[in-house]
Amino acid sequence: MPARPVPKVRVKRDSTQTDGQLNRARRVVRTSLDQLRPKSEVATGVLYCEDNLKQLSMMPAESVDLVYLDPPFFSNRQYEVIWGDEAEVRSFEDRWAGGIQVYVGWMRERLMEIHRVLKPTGSVFLHCDPHASHYLKVMIDEVFGMANFVNEIVWKRSDAHNDYGQGAKHLGRIHDVILLYRKAEGATFNALYTPLPDRTAERWYRHVEEGTGRRYNLADITGPGGAAKGNPHYEFLGVTRYWRYSRERMQELYDAGLIVQTKPGRVPAQKRYLDESKGVALQDVWIDIEMLRGLNRSLTKQERLGYPTQKPEALLERILQLGSKEGDIVLDPFCGCGTTVSVAQQLKRRWIGIDISPTACNLMVRRLAKIGAVNVEVHGLPTTLDELRELKPFEFQNWVIDRINGQQASRQTGDKGIDGWTFFLHDPVQIKQSDHIGREVLDGFETAVEREGKRTGAIVAFSFTRGAHEEVARVKAKGITIQLLTVADLLDRLDWAMRQLGISGGRPDLSLAPLPQFDANRHTPNELIASDMRSA
Ligand SMILES: C[S@@+](CC[C@H](N)C(=O)[O-])C[C@H]1O[C@@H](n2cnc3c(N)ncnc32)[C@H](O)[C@@H]1O
Repeated sequence: MPARPVPKVRVKRDSTQTDGQLNRARRVVRTSLDQLRPKSEVATGVLYCEDNLKQLSMMPAESVDLVYLDPPFFSNRQYEVIWGDEAEVRSFEDRWAGGIQVYVGWMRERLMEIHRVLKPTGSVFLHCDPHASHYLKVMIDEVFGMANFVNEIVWKRSDAHNDYGQGAKHLGRIHDVILLYRKAEGATFNALYTPLPDRTAERWYRHVEEGTGRRYNLADITGPGGAAKGNPHYEFLGVTRYWRYSRERMQELYDAGLIVQTKPGRVPAQKRYLDESKGVALQDVWIDIEMLRGLNRSLTKQERLGYPTQKPEALLERILQLGSKEGDIVLDPFCGCGTTVSVAQQLKRRWIGIDISPTACNLMVRRLAKIGAVNVEVHGLPTTLDELRELKPFEFQNWVIDRINGQQASRQTGDKGIDGWTFFLHDPVQIKQSDHIGREVLDGFETAVEREGKRTGAIVAFSFTRGAHEEVARVKAKGITIQLLTVADLLDRLDWAMRQLGISGGRPDLSLAPLPQFDANRHTPNELIASDMRSA
């Protein structure tokens, strides 16, 4: 279980203090508090469905090895994603009424907690876009210290845009920024390599070894920086230079046939074989990781869950491989549909995921089940009627559909009084997040059921009036069966409710069922592109 909550640090600003000074003061107080706090292991394999600031503040200090965060981006665009029907709009809450300073302040609180929970060997990867990356960088410099900035990674997330036709007076905006900071010197950093491009291999490894046919190049072995860098100075094969290797090592390499002098008097060089090359050291511009909605859709189809801001697993694989090792603890406090936790599970890292959205958490549970993660704990999902009443409309609708293992309606049928479809029989379902559903709703739904050529359907609501039950009896006489299911039924009598929906054995095995509400096919490509939160 998480450790007890961290006391709130309140450092009052005096009128002459800058933000930077204030934050330094906060850091000093926080570090002192951390010294007093017992360091303990943090629970892993857990998804928390709540505001990450609250959850982060309850985590023990220095308990996590790597944090990747992909928060809602700051942008003036209306970043809304339509899930079900047009009334249910999923807002990522990234319209910050107070402007960029409000956004940066919101992020600062979270980054301070992340700094606290990171181990001294830990790192953070903050995924953002060029609208805010420069503001966020200044803020993280303050929280982590400028000396701990490691890289600004540019990820080409999109194919080329041609917006000139629409009058754009700017270049295609096709990259995201990932800011990498370490907690301190000595942070875990694993060297990664990308495959050598064919052209480089041909041009660079242009010699072919007689007898073996192995391709090799001749690498410079003189000591860069000369004496100043401590390189040894001696004569070898008649050439006197500062060398990269000691005399003994040079001799060993020569005896092994790895030092070559192409002509007497020429500077000797070292044979480096193509088949032993590790590739090209990874740089800070990543153009080789396909976005999930790229041209090469067949490659990414398997992975796409329809979650609008889903990141490719390859991106997270690279990040986790760079900054962590097997057994390490990886935290994603904005984990969406669970790319980080899923990759962490597959790379044998331990993980913790946090997301405020029950829809996201439910999806993550399924995603993890599909890759065989066992004993996943989920905290904070709504479990009472009151909590369900409080959900945002689209979250409530997703909860019901998820509960009955159904399928979301397309926007078109959503307009016509059908919010979803049951699993298996594919009967229409209408969902109301209210009480006392009466005769009028039943009448409208009866029309919708008939229009679809169906004879059965279900309405889910908190309660129904007597008039609604009378309507059910009336339409039954016409041969139409409408089930009235209460939210309490779905909470407490799920098996019974599922039988009413024509699924006799209760809820089908999650791992066998499709991922109904995240069927990407129900979005048109234009909807998906319009919901791409990263374009301006
Ligand atoms: C950009 S998406 C992350 C997508 C994720 N990287 C993936 O691959 O699926 C941002 C996520 O942050 C969540 N979120 C927004 N505010 C939050 C908060 N205060 N606490 C926790 N999660 C939050 C949203 O529900 C959303 O799922």
